[in-house]
Amino acid sequence: MEKVKVGIVGSRFAAQLHAESYKRCPAAIVHSVSAIDNLDEFGESYGIANRYGDYHDMFEKEDLDLASVCVPNYLHREVVIAAASAGIGAIICEKPLATSIEDGLEMVRTCREGQVKLMYAEDWIFAPALVRAKQICQEGGIGDILYVKAKETHNGSHSAFAQKKEYCGGGSMIHVGIHPVGFLPWLVEAKIAQVMGMVTGGSELNLLHKDYTGEDWAAALVLLDDGTRGFVEGNYIACGGMDDKIEIYGAEGNIHIDLTQGSPLKVYSRSGYGYAIEKADFTHGWTSPAVDEFMSLGYVNEIAHFVDCVRNDTEPQRGTTGEDGLHALAVTLAIYESAENDCLIQIHDDLGRT
Ligand SMILES: NC(=O)c1ccc[n+]([C@@H]2O[C@H](COP(=O)([O-])OP(=O)(O)OC[C@H]3O[C@@H](n4cnc5c(N)ncnc54)[C@H](O)[C@@H]3O)[C@@H](O)[C@H]2O)c1
Repeated sequence: MEKVKVGIVGSRFAAQLHAESYKRCPAAIVHSVSAIDNLDEFGESYGIANRYGDYHDMFEKEDLDLASVCVPNYLHREVVIAAASAGIGAIICEKPLATSIEDGLEMVRTCREGQVKLMYAEDWIFAPALVRAKQICQEGGIGDILYVKAKETHNGSHSAFAQKKEYCGGGSMIHVGIHPVGFLPWLVEAKIAQVMGMVTGGSELNLLHKDYTGEDWAAALVLLDDGTRGFVEGNYIACGGMDDKIEIYGAEGNIHIDLTQGSPLKVYSRSGYGYAIEKADFTHGWTSPAVDEFMSLGYVNEIAHFVDCVRNDTEPQRGTTGEDGLHALAVTLAIYESAENDCLIQIHDDLGRT
């Protein structure tokens, strides 16, 4: 196969993560882009000549091998179904897979029936530090895994749609907490079976962001079906730059990972400089700028893996299939249900819960 011909839907934050990663993937070429704003600016920055205001036109007119879906959460279903219906053989869908189980199920079923590869973009699974941590666990370095604590937190989403529950599907748990939710089953190679959640309720019930209709703080205790315990958290009340931390406790040791603030660089700057880490307010004084966030957060290796799957006609790895995305969504929605009803929720299978 010649270079994998890619069409990106979206032109802002996530689309940039994908475009930067395709730039480092010699086996792929971003051939076209579709978006409803920032289209020419994005096209110019990445040298993409074929630009469409309507993604249906792009899917129909271009002979694409792969679509990267980087639009707001509530649009994932319609864009994925349109790509599959137009005969595109492989689709990367950003997290969360969808905003409802019904939508997620329809996406998985449509792609399965059409023999379309649906790949779920959980970048944590490709973060070099987390891949190394799993390798150490698999070598028996910390004995049996007993408990995993994982969080993604920052000071609030840049994206207007993410601040509205109706477009996002919730608040900080579905938008950022879904990273640890997707990571845990991959790490221990088991499914999440039970959740007990607690969330701020959105708007006036929020701790800080009263203008967000989804919650700005969320956490859950979880039990995996191999007996591993977990604690997952996603919140928008953490200032000082994105703070993603993971602790893995085993019978013979433990591993602590600072995914976003653990840079080997320590900079003291009186004048400030361009960029330190995602969502950091300042670059004055002492800072720890990321060396390469596209790599350290997993995006570069994620895109390279998905392009390989297209070239070699192989299945995406554990944690990144459409079904894995559906499991992460089912767990997240169960956390909301648990929080709302003050009760523990059982998740009986990959696709749903009772
Ligand atoms: N994996 C990650 O770490 C990560 C990080 C950020 C965002 N995301 C995910 O990526 C997706 C996009 O998030 P974002 O932060 O880039 O959002 P954003 O609000 O910054 O951008 C949304 C983009 O969607 C485009 N769009 C909206 N409606 C469209 C339509 N009908 N047709 C074509 N394009 C349309 C807009 O033009 C815009 O470019 C979300 O699902 C989000 O959860 C993932």
